[in-house]
Amino acid sequence: MVTCTAPVNIAVIKYWGKRDNDLILPINSSLSVTLHQDQLKTTTTAAASRDFTEDRLWLNGEEADVGHPRLQACLREVRRLARKRRGGSAEDTAPLSLSYKIHIATENNFPTAAGLASSAAGYACLVSALARLYGVEGELSEVARHGSGSACRSMWGGFVQWQRGERPDGRDSLAHQVAPETHWPELRVLVLVVSGEKKQVGSTAGMQTSVDTSPLLKHRAEVVVPERLALMMRHICERDFEGFGQLTMQDSNQFHATCLDTFPPIFYLNDLSRHIIALAHRFNTHHGCTKVAYTFDAGPNAVIFTLADTVAEFVEVVRRSFPPATNGDQFVRGLPVGSASLPEELLAAVVTEPVLGAVRYILHTKPGPGPQLVDDPSQHLLGADGLPRHCA
Ligand code: DP6
Repeated sequence: MVTCTAPVNIAVIKYWGKRDNDLILPINSSLSVTLHQDQLKTTTTAAASRDFTEDRLWLNGEEADVGHPRLQACLREVRRLARKRRGGSAEDTAPLSLSYKIHIATENNFPTAAGLASSAAGYACLVSALARLYGVEGELSEVARHGSGSACRSMWGGFVQWQRGERPDGRDSLAHQVAPETHWPELRVLVLVVSGEKKQVGSTAGMQTSVDTSPLLKHRAEVVVPERLALMMRHICERDFEGFGQLTMQDSNQFHATCLDTFPPIFYLNDLSRHIIALAHRFNTHHGCTKVAYTFDAGPNAVIFTLADTVAEFVEVVRRSFPPATNGDQFVRGLPVGSASLPEELLAAVVTEPVLGAVRYILHTKPGPGPQLVDDPSQHLLGADGLPRHCA
């Protein structure tokens, strides 16, 4: 039995569109920041036993369908690597039989309903746990990619690039670390959770329609992203927040523009997301430089990048702009946030027309490491009988 944890990542150069749907090969490379697991993580326990009569899966305590094709693809790929490895080494005397049935239990330390991307962390965690279980080492981002494209980036900590690759078999479509999580110690992330609604159009279906219908997406993948990637790598390397922040916002905006250019159009941003965008720009204009940068994935939650010295002031601006309806003490979660009093000029220039209760809460986090093995057996999600410990 093995337990691993894996992180969520947020792209600053977005992945949107596949050139191969089965192998999950993207039309463009992408770049992300891995978020810290103290605030957002998936935990997965995988166990194999000759006593198990069937493969079983539990998600947050509820039994779920183990036959999902992407889950099966990850399982198949890990077993293939295990077989390959065993074929080559004679000292593997008593390997875990690959024919044993497996039990998998997985949990998030954040509400799935919050609409925070969980499939990336979920598949990265599954692949990490299965690989450990079968004694597979080395390059695993390719396996995680079979679960969800963005999952390959959650196999690393810090700043991560997923290279689109050129080969039709996808062997070179891999994620690698551009810089570790310690590279930019002042960088902070605020997740503004605005809605618990399920997204209207899932990423997989949405990006397929975009590939089929959006000329802007084609131009983006062929021309815009290659230029932006090189630029973004430089901004990260130089810890240039002005450049990093501007490009992050521009790339988020272009991703949502390709959604609007999709036919029929896809809308992931809502009025509140647009409120937050306008707020961020007023805040930056007031300061005369880029102090905060927003990015949005396939949903209305905002992810804000900023530096540690700006967190308290911006959180206060958000609190004033979206006064919490209830649960005031729970409004800010995650890393501690100091208090800030806002100068009158800033209030007047930035906080216009407050919207009550629109932001449910703010999660304060920072870049963090990649998947981790959990040594402590008391942390296993499955008991000795192979069934979930805290079954719903
Ligand atoms: C908007 O990785 O969820 O978050 O590969 O079909 O599983 P599939 O899609 P998914 O798409 C993520 C899209 C995005 C941008 C990004 O994370 O790069």
